[in-house]
Amino acid sequence: MYNFTEIQPFDLTSNAFKLIGKDWMLIAAGDKEKSNCMTASWGGFGFLWNKPVVFIFVRPQRYTYHILEEQEYFTLNFFKETYRSILNFCGKESGEFVDKAKECHLDIASTPNNSIAYRQAHTIIECKKLYKEQFNPESFIAQSALEFYLNNDFHYMYIAEISNCFIRN
Ligand SMILES: Cc1cc2nc3c(=O)[nH]c(=O)nc-3n(C[C@H](O)[C@H](O)[C@H](O)COP(=O)(O)O)c2cc1C
Repeated sequence: MYNFTEIQPFDLTSNAFKLIGKDWMLIAAGDKEKSNCMTASWGGFGFLWNKPVVFIFVRPQRYTYHILEEQEYFTLNFFKETYRSILNFCGKESGEFVDKAKECHLDIASTPNNSIAYRQAHTIIECKKLYKEQFNPESFIAQSALEFYLNNDFHYMYIAEISNCFIRN
């Protein structure tokens, strides 16, 4: 993609704990016609089924969940600290009512597999969905984690293969 260099997931040097848990990310889904994004700070990078993968956790009431369901690919977009207000906005407003990319002046780019990403990101990870499952209350070993689900809105976990990885020049 213009202004970005393709790298291998193995060459990512950022600390995943900081990148996801502290910097946060925008999960973007959709295509040029219809897309949405939401802020997420829960997730992970790893290796599974001999593939570099990401894990994301999306509650069923998110508008993003419905867009994710329509597509095989999605992207994770990481931003510098100066974009924090955009991450706050996209973590509060819903794409059901607001065009977040337009409101935040985010420039949409198409990724190699026709998902969308934002040109302002410093790192873009395009992901191909491999597996999805909703958390099951009976599977929780630590009851303390159940406190996150007072409305029974258990996250859907997606495991997705990293199909392309780009860093901004
Ligand atoms: C810092 C931060 C982290 C968040 N992490 C998650 C997450 O990992 N999973 C999730 O389902 N929602 C998460 N949210 C909430 C969504 O971003 C928020 O509900 C958003 O408005 C959903 O937008 P949508 O309805 O357009 O999908 C987070 C919000 C913030 C502010």
